Amino acid sequence: MNIETVNLNDRSYPIYIGKGASQEPESLIERIKGSDVAIVSDEVVAPLYLELLLKALPDKNVITHILPNGEPEKKLKTAHKIIDHLLENGFGRDATLISLGGGVVCDITGFVASIFMRGVNVIQIPTTLLAQVDASVGGKTGVNHRLGKNLIGTFYQPSAVICDTAFLSSLRPEEMSDGLAEIIKYGLIYDRDFFVWLQSNVSNILEQDRSSLGHAVQRSCQIKAEIVAQDEKEQSIRAILNFGHTFGHAIENQAGYGQWSHGQAIAAGMVLASKLSAKMSLISEDDVEVVKDILLKAGLPVEPPKINVNDFMDTMRADKKVKDRVIQLVLLEEIGNAFLTADYLEQDLEDVLKGVI
Ligand code: GLY
Repeated sequence: MNIETVNLNDRSYPIYIGKGASQEPESLIERIKGSDVAIVSDEVVAPLYLELLLKALPDKNVITHILPNGEPEKKLKTAHKIIDHLLENGFGRDATLISLGGGVVCDITGFVASIFMRGVNVIQIPTTLLAQVDASVGGKTGVNHRLGKNLIGTFYQPSAVICDTAFLSSLRPEEMSDGLAEIIKYGLIYDRDFFVWLQSNVSNILEQDRSSLGHAVQRSCQIKAEIVAQDEKEQSIRAILNFGHTFGHAIENQAGYGQWSHGQAIAAGMVLASKLSAKMSLISEDDVEVVKDILLKAGLPVEPPKINVNDFMDTMRADKKVKDRVIQLVLLEEIGNAFLTADYLEQDLEDVLKGVI
């Protein structure tokens, strides 16, 4: 088991990475504070891994809350139901919440932990590749609003993240591709060498080669931890983690939540952001092809669905990065280096969208 740390002074926490990491006392039992534990999972993951987790918690008073699977569950009503369940069972400030699932479960469990009794202990156990490399790390929690993704939420750090790579073996190829979208993002925004390594290792990761997959998860978590440690509340550099996301969130919203997976949407979004970067002569057209090439190798789409450009722009305007009503975008300066800017021509953005939508 490898350990990365998110350094945030008194809120620092470990990310445990490795096969069987969720079964180690160091990563699990030692991070639980009281005896009341609520595991939040979903109907797909629970039948596979809940029993294993329960066995690792023999002396705790454990309740389980199993959600229907999928993005439409990520709403305030679901958070309310979890809180009802905690209160009905007499859970209080010393409770520990554990997420066992993908991004939806991690985001909603973190959100409930942040508001229940003004904040209780939470341990994230992500079971998808996407949640292991992104959603579970960094303390962003939340639920969707009909007008946009993650518009309701908090920054609230877990006391540990456990990336048990054994859980990845049950993922479908599309779910591996989803995770790869975020992994490729880290190379594009922060680490050219990692991007180059990914170019020759995407197939190995898709095929779950243990060493390639382990490296990809670890390097992604390292990069995310480094960025979050510099800028926990997204006042500056953390915004680059949203490369492709402003476009991607609009795709998810316009297509209808659950129609396009998050990974698929941000893959198409990263291509749109790259195209705008090329239109502004920041990167070359060849670079755009390099971005498309790796995403295609990873089994991801490189074109968004057919959507009305005006509706698309309106949805982008609901993004959290909008400042004084101007959409701020993360663009590429080069492969391995991204920045947040509002300094682009709206006409260029519309041209890029009209070219493909
Ligand atoms: N998923 C982007 C972030 O955590 O900041």
